[in-house]
Amino acid sequence: MSFHPLMDYGAGLHHSARPLPEEGSAFAYTPANLAKLEEICARYPGEHRKSAIIAALYLAQGQQGYITLSAMRAVAAAIRCTTAEVEDIVYFYTMFYTKPMGKHIIMVCRTLSCALAGAERVTEALSRELGLKPGETDANREFSLLEVECLGACDRAPVVGVNDDWHECQQPEAVKTLIEGLRAAGAQSLTGCHLKVAGE
Ligand code: FES
Repeated sequence: MSFHPLMDYGAGLHHSARPLPEEGSAFAYTPANLAKLEEICARYPGEHRKSAIIAALYLAQGQQGYITLSAMRAVAAAIRCTTAEVEDIVYFYTMFYTKPMGKHIIMVCRTLSCALAGAERVTEALSRELGLKPGETDANREFSLLEVECLGACDRAPVVGVNDDWHECQQPEAVKTLIEGLRAAGAQSLTGCHLKVAGE
């Protein structure tokens, strides 16, 4: 039982509940991605090559947008582990996708700090603005809306991630501006990332 009666914490993570991944077309890393992966693998002792599993998956996902069974096999071969180990990682982390997603992936943190600070209201506002329920992608593959677990900025709740960027202290009233900015200027419109501000 979760602390929130309406949220299905953990659903889909159990082996018996998760769907079989889509086979997809044959996957092979591009030469550039293969070179990047080899550079990352070289940071680990040879016997721990599979420590690069997250990076290997990110490269595969960046290349084709989501992870198919074919891509899982290629990742497993590249870092020398089993496909089952790769599949476990894919299904454990919500930032890996097993189906095509929108260009802009909007992720509302629903974990405790954000839930207490009104994350559900933010999700509702995003749902209205995008015409999507959490878990859905629009027909043009422009936007996907997701509820995710802690994004690591709990003191700045509620937090909304947009691809690799994130927006802190997000309020329902600000959602329209966020989405309009993405529609008009894409990622160029993202200015709320704490890391970017801190790095200036
Ligand atoms: S609880 Fe939302 S960022 Fe940690």
